[in-house]
Amino acid sequence: MIPTREDAFVLLKKHNSDESHIKHARAVEGTMRHFARKMGGDEDLWGVVGILHDIDWEKTMAEPERHCNLAPELLRDAGVGEEIIHAVQSHGWSICSDVEPINDMEKVLFTIDELTGLVITAGLVRPSKSLADLEVKSVKKKWKDKTFARGVNRDIIQKGAEMMGMSLDEVIENTIAAMRPIEKEIGLG
Ligand SMILES: [Fe+2]
Ligand SMILES: [Fe+2]
Repeated sequence: MIPTREDAFVLLKKHNSDESHIKHARAVEGTMRHFARKMGGDEDLWGVVGILHDIDWEKTMAEPERHCNLAPELLRDAGVGEEIIHAVQSHGWSICSDVEPINDMEKVLFTIDELTGLVITAGLVRPSKSLADLEVKSVKKKWKDKTFARGVNRDIIQKGAEMMGMSLDEVIENTIAAMRPIEKEIGLG
């Protein structure tokens, strides 16, 4: 079963209470929807995958290697279908999961999960605190500064872009564009 957007948020909030985690889900959802439109994917499905991808986050924080591995149980209990479960597991590929991203939806999720964080942080340090005037080149500058948003794994994003067959610049450009319309919801602007 593919839950509705509303049901997906209810399910996410059943297992996660920290507002920053909900905002991250919203950012990833918006970015997934944008790429679905661009790449001919099912926008609602891609969006729900974005909402649910970190469903087990708060329950596995003490044991990070369990992240992505508790999720199938939580999702199956709620009746969520295997297509979504596979996608959720694949976002931690090579870090905490051995499920490889196969289709476009999974490759995009793998690529943009952490990139949304880098882009949001790059927006927050601007005088405008907004994505409205954030350009790819200033994200690239932050990308090279290893002390900036140091938790963001650049190698994973680079690998993901290659899997998508898209240049890093194009992925960054689309991720900025994806989050501009929802920036107020995710703490910017
Ligand atoms: Fe995650
Ligand atoms: Fe995430």
